[in-house]
Amino acid sequence: MYLCLYFVLGLLSSKGCFSGDPNPEKVVAFAGENAILPCSLKTSGSDDLPTVEWSKEGLKPNVVFLYRNGFETFEMKNLAFEFRTSLFMREVKNGNFSLRISNLKPSDAGIYQCLIIQGNGSRETTDVQLVVGMTTSV
Ligand SMILES: *[C@@H]1O[C@H](CO)[C@@H](O)[C@H](O)[C@H]1NC(C)=O
Ligand SMILES: *[C@@H]1O[C@H](CO)[C@@H](O)[C@H](O)[C@H]1NC(C)=O
Repeated sequence: MYLCLYFVLGLLSSKGCFSGDPNPEKVVAFAGENAILPCSLKTSGSDDLPTVEWSKEGLKPNVVFLYRNGFETFEMKNLAFEFRTSLFMREVKNGNFSLRISNLKPSDAGIYQCLIIQGNGSRETTDVQLVVGMTTSV
């Protein structure tokens, strides 16, 4: 079954689903608004809390959100994303590690990767492309 995930935020109207390669998924949001980058666990291998690392391609350091032992870990986080990234904590227990990026900047556009490392060592990655549109108001 082809699962179509197309996230539309704000006032943007949906252009419908992508045909072809669904990887990476594409998220479109406007500068100054929030974006939700989807990432969910596909196969649950362990009841232990997984480690979840969201990174951005080409960024140094590339970590934009790191979740370990049930908490956010800040040590490796890129300062450009300080206070701007979070998970939906009520969703985490359902294996949903979608990332919220708030107050989007044009420079946030790019490819993000969600890496989930489960207690049994099993790894899953999800790539998401973020497109940041410019608001035409002002
Ligand atoms: C972890 O558990 C899942 C689900 O039981 C399994 O599919 C996967 O192969 C396991 N990974 C490892 C590294 O054992
Ligand atoms: C994960 O949580 C986010 C935020 O609540 C929600 O928008 C998204 O639909 C959820 N994804 C799944 C697969 O449940």
